[in-house]
Amino acid sequence: MVVGAAGGIGRALIARLQADPRFGHTAALSRHRPESWPENAACSWRPVDILDDASLAGAAEHAGRHGPVTRIIVATGLLHAHGLAPEKSLSALDEAQMARVIAVNAIGPALVAKHFLPLTPRDQPGLFAALSARVGSIGDNRLGGWFSYRASKAALNQLIHTAAIEHRRTHPLGVCVALHPGTVETPLSVPFTATIPKSRLFDPSVAARHLLSVMDTLGPENTGGFFAWDGAVVPW
Ligand SMILES: NC(=O)c1ccc[n+]([C@@H]2O[C@H](COP(=O)([O-])OP(=O)(O)OC[C@H]3O[C@@H](n4cnc5c(N)ncnc54)[C@H](OP(=O)(O)O)[C@@H]3O)[C@@H](O)[C@H]2O)c1
Repeated sequence: MVVGAAGGIGRALIARLQADPRFGHTAALSRHRPESWPENAACSWRPVDILDDASLAGAAEHAGRHGPVTRIIVATGLLHAHGLAPEKSLSALDEAQMARVIAVNAIGPALVAKHFLPLTPRDQPGLFAALSARVGSIGDNRLGGWFSYRASKAALNQLIHTAAIEHRRTHPLGVCVALHPGTVETPLSVPFTATIPKSRLFDPSVAARHLLSVMDTLGPENTGGFFAWDGAVVPW
């Protein structure tokens, strides 16, 4: 299951999961139907707004009818939008914009965890991963700036870590993690990638391959952690 399936990384994850014979069914959730969505029995799409508790409850109830969900990836996120840009200095802080970024990047994924973590299996491995960002690391923050996005991802990391502690009490084989995908060429990053060398800028399909490979290496001993696209632990 991919939440945020119409986004740059979300779409690429869906394509890779559909081609993976280990997964019998791929479920896509997003506000709008992903472009060129293949309508067949092996993949389903449902509308969801992660800031709408009721829409998440409905989607979870529907998904729960088909049995446990072995892999759930939250690929939603917000860095910029019309009239909203990452802040270069304290003087740019705006209460409404900060609240919006924190809602989408931290509160929304936490609500997804509330409704979907219980759908992961209790008696076999299951994984819940939320896409975070290295800039949410406090220990790694040397540049400053991007206050709201950094704070929202730091909050997301804490929420995922806290959810993982609760989850392992009932799901001892479960994994609940935050993942940094690297810098990926998507609508979210495009305004900020001009100075990034091509070798450090991933195509979404490559990023999806990296993320799914990291997920394959994670076990219950890693639950609650924050990992990068190459499997490295990212400092909090
Ligand atoms: N790209 C990078 O370089 C990079 C780097 C580090 C971390 N990340 C993280 O990776 C994740 C995916 O980013 P991306 O690059 O794929 O960005 P993207 O292409 O902009 O996709 C983000 C998706 O989030 C969805 N979304 C926003 N608010 C939502 C809501 N309330 N309900 C449901 N969906 C909502 C958007 O849906 P709509 O299509 O409906 O607007 C969009 O499809 C994000 O968490 C981002 O912070 C990305």
